[in-house]
Amino acid sequence: MPLRKVIALLLVGLNSLCIWAQETPTYTYKKGDRDGIGKWYMGREIAHIMGFQGMSWLERPEREKEEHTTRLLKNMNIKPEDTIADIGAGSGYHVFKMAKKATLGHIFAVDIQDEMLTAIQSKIRIRALENITTVKGGEQEVNLKPNSVDKMLLVDVYHEFNFPFEMLRSIHKAMRKNGKLYLIEYRGEDVQVPIKKLHKMTKKQAVKELEAAGFKFERNIENLPWQHCLIFMKR
Ligand SMILES: C[S@@+](CC[C@H](N)C(=O)[O-])C[C@H]1O[C@@H](n2cnc3c(N)ncnc32)[C@H](O)[C@@H]1O
Repeated sequence: MPLRKVIALLLVGLNSLCIWAQETPTYTYKKGDRDGIGKWYMGREIAHIMGFQGMSWLERPEREKEEHTTRLLKNMNIKPEDTIADIGAGSGYHVFKMAKKATLGHIFAVDIQDEMLTAIQSKIRIRALENITTVKGGEQEVNLKPNSVDKMLLVDVYHEFNFPFEMLRSIHKAMRKNGKLYLIEYRGEDVQVPIKKLHKMTKKQAVKELEAAGFKFERNIENLPWQHCLIFMKR
């Protein structure tokens, strides 16, 4: 084989190796905060998953006053025909509010804990709703069809994904071309927000991690009392 062809093949191989290295996340492991799992991603320690035993905290009556959840849904500009996925839906606090707005569309409530999905299913049955489907997600996979979702909502969950990069790639794949991701996290920059350190995120850290997974940061709507409302586009 001529030398020029060998060099060209080597360069192609090297380039693929660089792309692979760029796309493969590096997780490191070291002891950290008591609320963390000892696994780190891009300088951040991943938090423990909130167990289903904390369901009543998600449904607390003062939540609207503390988090202005009605305003959060207004930020999403939900259209009747929207297909929306709530990733880490918990007991469905936002799911049922969104279902009232997306009357001609559909809400997918994705969670990794069966107890959370069962709680949502019983509310769906009692209210006889037809525009909500529960989906059992995995640690690395949202289990939604490719190019099927207009809006992804992630409230207080991203910081506890055990595989943040893989989850974001899976979310990215499930989004339609002009889809939007709404990342709601307690503000890590603000010591006044009464939430444990690992359950908060700074805007800088969130943008860094989402951009590394192929999202484009659009803007932060700064109108929630405790949380960031970060909007990302599918790149
Ligand atoms: C703190 S709760 C927030 C629930 C809901 N978003 C809310 O604001 O009411 C986080 C939820 O995310 C779920 N979760 C954690 N990792 C997940 C994953 N990889 N895929 C889907 N759900 C996940 C947990 O089971 C839990 O129900």
